Amino acid sequence: MSRFAQPQADAFRRLNDSLAFDWRLAPFDVQQSVAHARMLAAQGIISEADRDALHAALRQVAEEVHDGSFEFAERDEDVHMAIERRVTELAGEAGGRLHTGRSRNDQVATDMAMFTRQAALDSAAAVLSLVQTLMELAERHLDWPMPGYTHLQRAQPVYLGHHLLAYAWMLLRDHGRFTAVLDGTDALPLGAGALAGVNFDTDRTLVAGELGFGAVAENSIDAVSNRDFVLDYLSAASTCATHLSRLGAEIVLWSSEEFGFCEVSDAWASGSSIMPQKKNPDAAELLRAKAPRIAAHLTAMLGVMHGLPLTYNKDMQEDKEHLFDAVDTLELVLGAAQGMLSTISFRRGRLEQAAADEFLAATDVADYLVKRGMPFRSSHGVVAGLVRLAVSSGRTLTELTPEELSDASPLLDAEGFYALLRDGAWLESKASRGGTGSSAVRAQLQHLRAALERARSGRR
Ligand code: ARG
Repeated sequence: MSRFAQPQADAFRRLNDSLAFDWRLAPFDVQQSVAHARMLAAQGIISEADRDALHAALRQVAEEVHDGSFEFAERDEDVHMAIERRVTELAGEAGGRLHTGRSRNDQVATDMAMFTRQAALDSAAAVLSLVQTLMELAERHLDWPMPGYTHLQRAQPVYLGHHLLAYAWMLLRDHGRFTAVLDGTDALPLGAGALAGVNFDTDRTLVAGELGFGAVAENSIDAVSNRDFVLDYLSAASTCATHLSRLGAEIVLWSSEEFGFCEVSDAWASGSSIMPQKKNPDAAELLRAKAPRIAAHLTAMLGVMHGLPLTYNKDMQEDKEHLFDAVDTLELVLGAAQGMLSTISFRRGRLEQAAADEFLAATDVADYLVKRGMPFRSSHGVVAGLVRLAVSSGRTLTELTPEELSDASPLLDAEGFYALLRDGAWLESKASRGGTGSSAVRAQLQHLRAALERARSGRR
């Protein structure tokens, strides 16, 4: 019997059915049904014979899901109904007992929590191996000077290793964010029923234990309404993808003829269909472009949940496509970053040449005056004057005469000034903790290695 006299409109079904995308939850759905059936029997709610029949049917479904032989029926609306329908075909009357003491509302929340947990674990692991790759790349380029930039203007020289390590720290924080997602997926929704709890003496702790949840959601209304963990994952993924977009953008710039700092390997570049000379850093460009797509899934999902009255609403079915696409996209870009960085080559000559731009020492000259007693604000002005003088007369700082220097400030002795401008001095003097001097970068590497170890072992 059905509540409805009329069949559903085709157009409604196309809008409402989620099977086309939520089929991906099938392995989790089967797993939770196995646990649910075991608990129902342990509590005497169904017989052991029914449990065994359900388990045998669910094993068969799992195989069909795995090898792709599962056949869908016309009336399968979503993954939950498809699996229950198939279980009932296989197990007969026992199949009809599977849905005892549960609802699709707590069921789907449970599937999604399980899926999100797995996605967060996978993303966290992929992020860590990228940190490892960046660390090795940094070690190989520890003392390669390059210009550091602000506003994309040459600012102060840094070592390439130092610059690469910046990304390692960003990604290590991403690892922390993905790990934190796990806290949000840890409370089992199943057992909340449709919204109010169930009329059976269930044992939710037993189910939680079997499915790897550390706790049971304490409020049935919250349990079926909650998609915070989806937002948590999307937020972590958006930040991570944003980091990768900055990496991608720099590789695009750096591999241009104008910069000439690096070359992406052939495996991660493509040619032009018309200009034979071209090697395009498409992968790096896509790292840049995929980030807003993931962020859009976050904002869309915030929009779905915004102002939604408790408890379950069909709106929440939208969580899947946003989450799944974000997971897949992030996996793609993390893999691309990994592949590209493992095979990228840097051009020492070009980097060094750009870093040898003497104007990059302007701050160091100002600091030199500070060490000789001048307040920094005044020394900044003195050096600005020297730079203006050099630029307007088409000279470098070294080409300024001792007279011009002492005119600018009596504290500016020519010998000290010229010595300061000699190559490298302005890099190694940045020995402060976290700075670019090689001793500081070596210490930084040690701290990173320790932090990576902690992250790997799950300590915080
Ligand atoms: N396909 C639905 C979803 O993904 C499952 C839950 C349906 N619940 C309901 N009361 N109609 O959200």
